[in-house]
Amino acid sequence: MPTESVKHPLFARGYAWLAKKEDKAGNADNRRELLAGLKGSVVEVGAGIGSNFEHYPATVTEVVAVEPEPYLRQRAEAAAASAPVPVRVVDGLADALPLEDASVDAGVASLVLCSVPDQETALAELHRAIRPGGELRFFEHVASNRKSRSRMQRVLDKTFYPHLAGGCHLTRDTRAAIEDAGFVVQRSRRFPFPSGKFGLPHILGSARRP
Ligand SMILES: C[S@@+](CC[C@H](N)C(=O)[O-])C[C@H]1O[C@@H](n2cnc3c(N)ncnc32)[C@H](O)[C@@H]1O
Repeated sequence: MPTESVKHPLFARGYAWLAKKEDKAGNADNRRELLAGLKGSVVEVGAGIGSNFEHYPATVTEVVAVEPEPYLRQRAEAAAASAPVPVRVVDGLADALPLEDASVDAGVASLVLCSVPDQETALAELHRAIRPGGELRFFEHVASNRKSRSRMQRVLDKTFYPHLAGGCHLTRDTRAAIEDAGFVVQRSRRFPFPSGKFGLPHILGSARRP
């Protein structure tokens, strides 16, 4: 699939604004937790405007940040210039990573496995690119387990929501998909973001490629 398949000029500008706002409202802490303790080479898929870059610890030697959407990629390139570790932003898709097999120590998926067209393919690609013993760090919003909310999410996913939100889906069971791809979840915490009754359920954690 060509990277031009991910071109969402309106969504991209809206998301760029929202990502900054949510980081100020506490998401920056989640990003820091996501990346804490990472070491070596990393591939980050669907990097958006590069909101994670400033939070990579100094033990990371290189980040290859894959971003197919042109406006977001340009914003990510600007963020890479002031990142505390070397970040190389590249055009590409999670579905066909421009990386050799077992070539990175870790993968990072943050708020992206909701948007890829096929989670199984994207996770198979991460599994291929991460070396045996390496880690997948994830921070993703997932399906609600409250009945009425999950019914509403299913309706939204089947109608206009993915078209409005750059391909995002609300009903994915991403933890199960990570395990089905062959990763072993080491830790995962589930919490609403924004906090409170109306927040979307998120999972944040780490899984290992055996
Ligand atoms: C909600 S944004 C999240 C951006 C960023 N990861 C963050 O944490 O803020 C979803 C991102 O996934 C990207 N994306 C969508 N489809 C993709 C695909 N097939 N491969 C890689 N990235 C994709 C979008 O361009 C966008 O940057």
